[in-house]
Amino acid sequence: MVARAALRREWIRSRQRTDELFRRVAPEALYARPIPERHRLIFYLGHLEAFDWNQMARGALGEPSFHPEFDQLFEFGIDPPVGQAPQDQPSDWPAVGAVKAYHAEVRKRLDALLDRVPAERVHVAIEHRDMHAETFAYLLQNLAPGQKVAPPAEAASGAAEPPANPLTPVPAGAVTLGRRRGDGFGWDNEFEAMRVDVPAFAMQRHKVTNGEYLRFVADGAAPPHFWRGEPGRWRLQTLYGEIDLPLDWPVYVTQREAAAFARWRGLELPTEAQFQRAAYGCADGVSETDPDPARGNFDFRSADPVPVSADPGVNAFGLAQMVGNGWEWTSTLFGPLPGFEPFPFYPGYSAAFFDGQHYVLKGASAHTAARLTRRSFRNWFRPDYPYVFAGFRCVENR
Ligand code: AVJ
Ligand code: FE
Repeated sequence: MVARAALRREWIRSRQRTDELFRRVAPEALYARPIPERHRLIFYLGHLEAFDWNQMARGALGEPSFHPEFDQLFEFGIDPPVGQAPQDQPSDWPAVGAVKAYHAEVRKRLDALLDRVPAERVHVAIEHRDMHAETFAYLLQNLAPGQKVAPPAEAASGAAEPPANPLTPVPAGAVTLGRRRGDGFGWDNEFEAMRVDVPAFAMQRHKVTNGEYLRFVADGAAPPHFWRGEPGRWRLQTLYGEIDLPLDWPVYVTQREAAAFARWRGLELPTEAQFQRAAYGCADGVSETDPDPARGNFDFRSADPVPVSADPGVNAFGLAQMVGNGWEWTSTLFGPLPGFEPFPFYPGYSAAFFDGQHYVLKGASAHTAARLTRRSFRNWFRPDYPYVFAGFRCVENR
């Protein structure tokens, strides 16, 4: 019963965070589509509750539907290839009043049912919502400045010089990908556990900074999606504003841009196993622990990135900020681990993306909930998807 009470508190906390994000949208902007390949904002207002309702009340408890049309309309998001945006109009969507009424009714009913929902489904609902908190932050950052309401006192700034970013040796050793069944909640794509032997390699101590990437741009590469302005006077779009390009912040780029930068440096992107080894392997090769939830730029601790050298410590291999302050692209295509079985209640959650068109990201951003920083968690996006809080570091394979 203690566990159930804690789960309910986590669900309420998660709802408070997405509620807070919706308050950042100017009322007239609810029908805007800040990312062309994603739905209009109004979809997400319906989607979070529809997902909870469909999964927990209808799916797990067999409750009858009270609004079948909305249950279906708001059931799933979209992920078309970049450049193939949907063509629906604001008038194709229901009025905000109707969506809010559905939202309120779902909450009222679920509040009464929650304690009967199997724990796994409650985890699914919480983490689905937490992931959408991050998705919604992407949408906000891509929303025009006049269409959002900044919270009070969000002043970010960067420094003039990026820190040195040396290649740092990671000795050969084993690491675990995925997790063992029975070891607590994980999404279908996190199972099962697999030991991997990773040969020695070297990895950059920090995430690649705007300052480092600036040299690549000066050499002819296109400026990243969130950069504004022009050569010599680059500015950065932050969540709510725009500042002079902070040279010691991680650069956020697509996987293609990251891979091109690595090639330009004569280096490579890490594989998923290399990231895992670098982040969670121990010098002794045995113990692996999840990151300290109190440390690092994740769990909504800040609106924007912080300098790559902001955290005082480095891990056992001398690497900084492996979790937090921006996801990190890998060179690994998203695919099943051996023993993968799709969740029967959500068969497409992962398997629909085992299509050779999505790459694994690891780590976390400022907008990643702490519970999603467990070491088996895997994120994925298309390699040319520029809207997310994702950077990278390079490796050298000797
Ligand atoms: C795991 C973050 C790639 O946002 O597309 C949300 C999570 N899936 N609703 C996404 C997700 C269905 C997913 N990512
Ligand atoms: Fe979703």
